[in-house]
Amino acid sequence: MHVKMRFSNMNSKTIQDQITYQKTVINENLRYFKPSTVKKQKTFLDEITLSLNNIPRSINPKFFYDNTGSKLFDEICSLPEYYLYNSEIEILNNIKKEIKLHIDSEIRLVELGSGSSIKTRILLDTLYNLQTSVEYFPIDISDILSFSTKELCNIYNDLKITGIIDTYENGLNFIEDYDNKPNLISFLGSSFGNFNHLEGSQFLKTISDMMKESDLFLIGFDLKKDKSILQNAYNDSKGITAKFNLNVLKRINTELNADFDLTKFSHHSVYNELDGRIEMYLKSLCAQTVKIPDVNIPINLLKDELIHTENSYKFSIPQIESKLEDADIGIKKIWCDSRNYFALVLGQKI
Ligand code: AVI
Repeated sequence: MHVKMRFSNMNSKTIQDQITYQKTVINENLRYFKPSTVKKQKTFLDEITLSLNNIPRSINPKFFYDNTGSKLFDEICSLPEYYLYNSEIEILNNIKKEIKLHIDSEIRLVELGSGSSIKTRILLDTLYNLQTSVEYFPIDISDILSFSTKELCNIYNDLKITGIIDTYENGLNFIEDYDNKPNLISFLGSSFGNFNHLEGSQFLKTISDMMKESDLFLIGFDLKKDKSILQNAYNDSKGITAKFNLNVLKRINTELNADFDLTKFSHHSVYNELDGRIEMYLKSLCAQTVKIPDVNIPINLLKDELIHTENSYKFSIPQIESKLEDADIGIKKIWCDSRNYFALVLGQKI
């Protein structure tokens, strides 16, 4: 079945006016929607070609998350150096009772990025404690959604899951067009930190524009802290972050038939104190030429040339307050973990 969705209030020019979704029904409680793959492949090739040929070269971090990349990211979350994950779990476990005070009618969980079923389960358990039935709408660009949601179906046998395999913005517009029920929109895990300032502001404005008065927004922010703690989190001793970073080249090879030789690149990450962000790169270990067959422009890399793959911004509490205020999102509560490493903010449209 094909469902036509309209996207009338999207600011970004990169979003098309109309997207066709393929609906797949797995069972009576689980279905997911996915846009046409032909369009997605074209976008991937176009974006990669452009960003790898522009100097300084870059790869958008959204391309990390193919099935392997999503699994590697789950592995990163289990590393002791990557404190973000455990800090956020600590907060979620601590606020279970308190969050209920802010929910006054039946609400469903809309999750932007469905990486960790543990965090999802804490939120679902919180909702199950408040209401008899629960709906869950995860939105994720990666196909991993269809696997992770099946697992949730086995744990909660009456949970109604509608997955949307698409960008956050498109998924949110899908839900806005879908019905009028109150949503608890969660954006966990410091993913906001992967946006640049402009993208972050536009993202918050998109959320705020599509939120109804009855909706709530729960968002995670990684806080500024000692440089060595930050750098260790992105240079782990087991080399999983390096694998995660290099995997994006593997993905380009697999999906676009490129000929990146992964042994000729290394993972490089550093905390830029001035801009308050971790910067992640792939460093070319020698002068080399890489080809993508569908494109006639060879990519000539110099020895030590960097391909920028990710920024991960860190925030102070006043910065968080002003970002949300600028987007007309009122702060109901800010919770931090015991070490003040991470913050979870509950907001509502003003
Ligand atoms: C997904 N995102 C919040 C992670 C971060 O910390 O910026 C991605 C990541 N990159 C390296 N390690 C984890």
